Amino acid sequence: MISLSYTPQLRELMKKVEETRASRVGVDYPRMSPEERRDVLQKFHPDYIEDGFRDIKVGVDKGVRMPTEMADVFESYSRLKDVDLDLKADPDYDVDVLIIGGGGAGASAALMANEAGAEVMLTTKLRFGDANTMMAQGGIQAADKENDSPATHFLDVLGGGRLENVPELARALVMDAPLVIKWLEDLGTMFDKSEAGTMITSHGGGTSRKRMHAARDYTGAEIMRTLRDEVYNKGINVVEFSPAVEILLDAQGRAGGAILFNLETEQYLTARAKTVIIATGGSGRLHYRGFPTSNHHGATADGLVMGYRAGAGTIYADSIQYHPTGGAFPPQLLGLLVTEKTRGLGAQPLNINGEQFVYHLETRDVESSAIIRECEERGLGVPLPTGITAVWLDSPLIEQIHGEGTVERQLPAMLRQFQRFDVDIRKEPMLIYPTLHYQNGGLLIDDRAETGVENLYVAGEAAGGIHGTNRLMGNSLLDILVFGRRAGANAAAKSKEVPVPEGLNLEHVNNYHRELEQADAGDGRVGPVLLPRYTHR
Ligand code: FUM
Repeated sequence: MISLSYTPQLRELMKKVEETRASRVGVDYPRMSPEERRDVLQKFHPDYIEDGFRDIKVGVDKGVRMPTEMADVFESYSRLKDVDLDLKADPDYDVDVLIIGGGGAGASAALMANEAGAEVMLTTKLRFGDANTMMAQGGIQAADKENDSPATHFLDVLGGGRLENVPELARALVMDAPLVIKWLEDLGTMFDKSEAGTMITSHGGGTSRKRMHAARDYTGAEIMRTLRDEVYNKGINVVEFSPAVEILLDAQGRAGGAILFNLETEQYLTARAKTVIIATGGSGRLHYRGFPTSNHHGATADGLVMGYRAGAGTIYADSIQYHPTGGAFPPQLLGLLVTEKTRGLGAQPLNINGEQFVYHLETRDVESSAIIRECEERGLGVPLPTGITAVWLDSPLIEQIHGEGTVERQLPAMLRQFQRFDVDIRKEPMLIYPTLHYQNGGLLIDDRAETGVENLYVAGEAAGGIHGTNRLMGNSLLDILVFGRRAGANAAAKSKEVPVPEGLNLEHVNNYHRELEQADAGDGRVGPVLLPRYTHR
C-alpha cells in the first residue's frame, strides 16, 4: 500500500535538503542566459515534443498544429447531430447578452453588461463559481505602486510571452490592471495589506517589480466570492448545470444565442441573445501528454469547440502551460497546484542531492523544463513510492528567510493542504513536478474581446494571444477580469444596436459535419465533451 505521508526512505533523502539548507540561504542561483533558456525549452518543454501534436483537418484553421487531444475534441460531431430541434419555435430564454461560463470572466462580464442596462443571463455547466478562478492561489498582477508602471508591466508580459503576444491585447491587460484592482476592492475583495493600509505586493517568475496582489494563497476564491455575491445582489439571472453545447447563428451568420443542455432533465433548451460571450475557461482536463492537471473538472475546452465550429479562429492552440510546481506526493495531491507564491517567498527547487539546479523564479516554461531535465536526463529526481520522480521544493527555507510564522500567514491553504497528509511544510520540503495548468492560446479576439464572428465575444482562458506563448503568474486572474469586463461592456453596447436575431440556425454545424466526413475525421467522437472521460455523470 502507498503511504499517504512521507515514507522512511523519503525522510532519509530529505536529510540532504536539510544538510545543504544553511549554505543556500541568501544565495541566488544564477539565472539562465537566453541561449540556455532556448536550449532547455527545445529539449524538454512538452510543447516541443512533436509526437504530441497534429494538424487539425477541418474548420477555419484547417492545417493548424494543435495538441492531439485538442485536435480530437475539435474534430468531433455535435451533440445535436441526431437531436430534433425546432428553432422556429419561441426560444426558452430570450435576452440581450448571453454569457456562457460561471467563473471570473463570466461573472465580471455579467456585472458590466448589467451595469450597461442589458438584460443578461449567465449559464454555466456546473455551479456558479466552479471554475479555475476559484482555485487560483498566488495573486493578481497590477502596476499600481510608485516604482512601477503599466509600461514596465507590459515589458514583463512580452518578455514572459516570448515576444509573441498580440500587442494590443497585452496593452489592454496592463492598462486596465490598476482599475481592476480598485474595482475589486470597491466590491469588497480583501487583499493583503500592511498595517499602514498599503497593498502588500510580491514577485512572481519573470516580474521585474513586486506587483502581485494577493489574498493569502486563496486569491481566486476571494475574488470569486466577491463577484458571485455581486452578481446575486444585482439580481442577474444565473442558470446552473446547463452547459451550452452549440452557438446559434442568425441568417446573416452572426451569433444569436446558443443551445443549452440541462444536465438534470437532459433537455436541450434554446437561448436567443443579441450578443453572446464565451467564458468557459481552459482545457486542462484533456490531460495533454498524460499530464495531471491543476484545473477544475469542467475545464474541457467546451467554448473552444463551440466557438471554432461557429467560425471563430484560434491563436497559439499549440501552446500549453505546465506549472513548475504541481504536487507530486502524497498521491492525493498529484497535479494540484503548489502556488508560485511559495517560490516567490524564496523556496528553492532541489534535486535528490539537495542541490539547487535552476534559479527559483525563472519563467514557468523554463522552470518546468529544467525540472523535467533534472529528472529525465540527469536522473537526479527523487524516486517516489508511486513510481514517478519529482524534485524537492524547500518550503522550510521560507521560515528561515522571512521568520517563523510566515508560512502560516502567507500560505495557509498550502499548509493545510499538506497537513491533511501529515506533512508539515514549515519543517519538511514539498515534492513537486510540473502539472498541466493553463492554455496560453485560445480563440482569437480583438481588444474589445470580439471574435471574427460578429456578436460573438470571448473572455478568460478560452481567449488567446494576450500572453503570447507563456503566461506569467498573476496575469490570468487579471486577464479574466480585464477581458470579462470589456466583453460585458462591449456586448451590452452592441446589443443595443442590433435587432432581435432572426433565422437562428445550426447550418454551420451541418457544414462542419460534412467537412469531417470529407476529411474522414472525427471517428464518431462527440463534442464538446463537457466532463472528463473518467467522470461518470
Ligand atoms: O502559482 C500560482 O499561484 C498560480 C497563479 C497563476 O497561474 O496565475
